[in-house]
Amino acid sequence: MKYNPSNCQCNANIGKDDNILCNCFGVTVTEVEEAIKNGADTVIKVGEVTQAGTGCECCRLEIQKLIDKYK
Ligand code: FES
Repeated sequence: MKYNPSNCQCNANIGKDDNILCNCFGVTVTEVEEAIKNGADTVIKVGEVTQAGTGCECCRLEIQKLIDKYK
């Protein structure tokens, strides 16, 4: 699936349902934050640990925001 923010259903759901950040894999904000605290300092690394961002990629912007928050 190609990243297309203007047509993204995933972003529309971010933060609305049970802390889910990545709808493709049901990964929560909490899980992504844990990965970042454990050393995943890029979107790719977070994806390797949690799978978040490795599907449609819509949530990658949100993952990057979290990474920036913990820098
Ligand atoms: S919401 Fe599709 S990869 Fe995260």
